[in-house]
Amino acid sequence: MNDMNISRIIIAVDGHSSTGKSTFAKAIAQKYGLLYVDTGALYRGVTLFAIENSLINQDNIIDSVKLESKLQSLRPEFRNTGENGKSELYLNDRLVEKEIRSLSVSSRVSYIAALPLVRNYVDKILRLYGERRGVVMDGRDIGTAVFPDAELKIFMTAEAKVRAERRYNEMIAKGEEADFQKILENIIERDYIDEHRDTAPLRMAPDAILLDNSHMSPEEQMEWISQKISQKWN
Ligand code: DC
Repeated sequence: MNDMNISRIIIAVDGHSSTGKSTFAKAIAQKYGLLYVDTGALYRGVTLFAIENSLINQDNIIDSVKLESKLQSLRPEFRNTGENGKSELYLNDRLVEKEIRSLSVSSRVSYIAALPLVRNYVDKILRLYGERRGVVMDGRDIGTAVFPDAELKIFMTAEAKVRAERRYNEMIAKGEEADFQKILENIIERDYIDEHRDTAPLRMAPDAILLDNSHMSPEEQMEWISQKISQKWN
């Protein structure tokens, strides 16, 4: 057993895109009374800001000099909705949850997230959230770069085809148009960019525990993590 109380630890949930990291991290936060921080939302917020200020073009070429100076005026903030610990991202007091999940943002965010200036900007915000401890963060580099000292690190993955199927079913259930092949290609492309960027590439930390949820239900995943947590913390 670990002496430290679970309310004082940092849990890093990193891994491939569309593996259900945020659902999983939110459920852990709710079960153990921790704060949940969706770190991808901040990269998405910066991407929306770049698009709206014409700082990224159709070919994903970014005006990084202007972006760096304009970022000074951006005030991202998570606000609680009061609903099951759910929080929503605001940019300069404007709610942007819907916009940051759009295809236009999703297809560009990996390029924005590859810029060291953007990673430094987001890391500073994340470290402020981490100061209070008692947080669960999901992302790509939380256990490797942002909080290498996190007490619990989970690396989530699943077969690309399974992830594309889940994403496809989600979109169909919402009544949205969906093209399975395109979704699969987008997932494979995002994995590649996340794993091959120079700054803080997606890697499993040596002390992380692997969770391949290709054939696991959300309940089985919670059972799995609850066991790991009860082995280490009281
Ligand atoms: O988890 P997500 O799909 O909302 O993440 C959006 C993008 O941000 C994704 O392309 C990877 C990037 N990201 C990152 O590079 N580092 C993080 N800690 C979180 C997300």
